Amino acid sequence: MEEFTVTPWEVSGQINYDKLIQQFGTKRIDDGIREKLKRICVDLHVLLKRQFFFSHRDLDLVLQDYEQKKDFFLYTGRGPSGEMHLGHLIPMIFTKWLQDKFNVNLYIEITDDEKFVFKRDAKWEDVQKYANQNILDIAAVGFDPDKTFIFKDSEYIKNAYPLMLKIARKINYSTTKAVFGFNEQSNIGLMFYPAYQAVVTFFEKKRCLIPCAIDQDPYWRIQRDIAEDLGYNKTAAIHSKFLPPLQGIQGKMSSSQAETAIWLNDDDKTVKNKIMKYAFSGGQATIEDHKRLGGRTEVDVAYQWLSILFEENNKKLMQIHDDYESGKLLTGELKQILVDKINAFLKEHREQRKKAEKLVDRFMYSGKLAKEMWGKVLV
Ligand code: TYM
Repeated sequence: MEEFTVTPWEVSGQINYDKLIQQFGTKRIDDGIREKLKRICVDLHVLLKRQFFFSHRDLDLVLQDYEQKKDFFLYTGRGPSGEMHLGHLIPMIFTKWLQDKFNVNLYIEITDDEKFVFKRDAKWEDVQKYANQNILDIAAVGFDPDKTFIFKDSEYIKNAYPLMLKIARKINYSTTKAVFGFNEQSNIGLMFYPAYQAVVTFFEKKRCLIPCAIDQDPYWRIQRDIAEDLGYNKTAAIHSKFLPPLQGIQGKMSSSQAETAIWLNDDDKTVKNKIMKYAFSGGQATIEDHKRLGGRTEVDVAYQWLSILFEENNKKLMQIHDDYESGKLLTGELKQILVDKINAFLKEHREQRKKAEKLVDRFMYSGKLAKEMWGKVLV
């Protein structure tokens, strides 16, 4: 019996990321690749240093190309099923870092179609409302407005449809059944959708690099089966683990379970309440026991979140680690450190979001790359 599941629609159980690399047939981001990235980028993003981005496909080829002065492009996306939570922002933050370092084009797909067909009771107006809100959150991350094209699937369809059809006729039912688990009851909207998630990798005749969590990898497997036949490169990808839910280090922070997540629009008080109330603690039942026996950082969600992203300073993180393990730092104190970090992060995000209102039009329609993309039909 599988002790965990990772698909684009479900992530559950205690995920064994080493096993996942084997199951999915991807490669680990090893010291060699990290060294190479560091040489090119001068520094490494904390999400790479802490090995939160842990797996890849053909990242070595992307870097080889780059060193030979061959450009590549970036692609990521978001399915607007609701508000965004911290986990959804992680690939975006990392993608911005890559865009800054490599100065390349970036395409961000907003899959309003996917979420509409996936959730049978979804209302079109709601999906659109969330799509527009999500786009603001994404624009707040600070991408280059002339090198970034953010588009909603339902709007860009006219330009992308011919190329999508080329993809669609290469993928048969038995492949999607094997890769996604579709069956006789799956609706036909879901079955066509993978062609849209794949087509973006063909937006340029260069190599495409996709930062995302590893749940999206099944789409890239399909793309890689057909790309060369159609005269394009197999896509490259760089995969992250999942930001764990508040309740414990199993599964992922998930939109479908609201209480597992910190949402980007949570206010200071809500963040504090949620973390104090729900964040699974590696501490002992009483203060006396905690001081005597110490806490367990490896299961403590507050510590895990600090170590993934929110405490970038290694020395400070080590100190927190040692103090918690020895029992000097209490659970409430550890949680408070995280509350302060997240509230500072969200305050900055809210400010950037406000400023981004003015930029959305450039990302979607009037920036340099957006204009180019609206000016052509892809075949
Ligand atoms: P969606 O909206 O489910 O997720 C958006 C992005 O967030 C990642 N993600 C997480 N990362 C870290 N921790 C978590 N707990 C967590 N939960 C989700 C996802 O892997 C994803 O990168 N079908 C896609 C939309 C899409 C897309 C893409 C995503 C279209 N093209 C290209 C990535 C790359 C979706 O519904 O994502």
